[in-house]
Amino acid sequence: MSTLSSAPPLWLRDNCPCAECRDPRNGQKLFQITDLPAGLAVDAVLDTLTADGAPAREVVWTPDGHRSVYADTWLDAHLPGSPAGPGDGRGEDDKELWDAAGLAGRFPEAEWSAYTADPAVAAGALESVMRFGFVLLRGVPVRDRQVLEVARTFGFVRETNYGELFEVRVEADPNNLAFTGARITPHTDNPYRDPVPTLQLLHCLSNAAREGDSGLVDGFHAAALLRAEDPQAYEVLTRVPVPFTFADDRTALVAHRPLIGTDPAGRIREIRFNNRSIGTLRRPAEELDAFYAAYRRFGELLSRPELQLEFRLAPGDCLIFDNTRLLHARTAFAESGDRHLQGTYADIDGLASTLAVLRRKAVTA
Ligand code: OGA
Ligand code: ZN
Ligand code: ZN
Repeated sequence: MSTLSSAPPLWLRDNCPCAECRDPRNGQKLFQITDLPAGLAVDAVLDTLTADGAPAREVVWTPDGHRSVYADTWLDAHLPGSPAGPGDGRGEDDKELWDAAGLAGRFPEAEWSAYTADPAVAAGALESVMRFGFVLLRGVPVRDRQVLEVARTFGFVRETNYGELFEVRVEADPNNLAFTGARITPHTDNPYRDPVPTLQLLHCLSNAAREGDSGLVDGFHAAALLRAEDPQAYEVLTRVPVPFTFADDRTALVAHRPLIGTDPAGRIREIRFNNRSIGTLRRPAEELDAFYAAYRRFGELLSRPELQLEFRLAPGDCLIFDNTRLLHARTAFAESGDRHLQGTYADIDGLASTLAVLRRKAVTA
């Protein structure tokens, strides 16, 4: 356990909670880092109480004589050397990685009526998206554009060149293979965007076709397996930027990103995998060799049967999933059959915010 005296002065002062340093109405900082005096140091530390009477320490600063009061609970939680908090909520350490067997008997799902009526059910469903990467809402009204209403229960719709929503059904002149009866192997959507949509919703309006079943794969789990089984391939996929592209007569999108994105601590944080939209890599020949071997290896791993969570969407089902983590798939279906989904995109930071507010309310209720 670290002590106050070992706290770096600029760090400690930057966290001063006083009304001169932070606007009490919103907690936002009122000073620039460059406003702090050179040679800032702790002059004295006194025992005191916070305004609400909690045990605290008061720091008197030199050379400016400023005074800062830090609650002991805040110091215990934040001083360097205190147990490291979780990550930012998006990386592999903050998730429960799964394979199909690992979710047996605990498929993340919720009834729409309960989800909309009971904040605890809503929090549980949103929590599932953060933890497992998805939730299936059942009994969602089978109505045109309802998928937008689902997105608005926790965030904001991300409009794209496909519109506010996209129709997943057999089209006469499809600008995307999703709009045919073809099998779609596990992929993330829209890797050709930067930023990529972090959440996808798929709402089933009808599914009378033979086949057209759904599949999900935990891309973080697959990437972690690759790291364990073939560290060199993993390293290549975290490093080599891949150009993803999408084009039709109105659109020309491109984004250069590795298949496996990592955070500054090297943890898996973002998967992009889509065989339909991978463009032409232009790299030295040896690097292309290494990339293609690794890409193929990852592709084989992602198609292992034990990683595929298979289920069938029924009318009224709406899947909400983390498009930076999970891959989704569907089996081929007879184009004569009636199958119609409506999809949209949204962002997971908004979902995480809604979940945090629900939890805050649950604590204060
Ligand atoms: C898509 C897609 C899956 C399906 O539209 O991006 O992957 O079940 N659809 O049709
Ligand atoms: Zn202050
Ligand atoms: Zn898709």
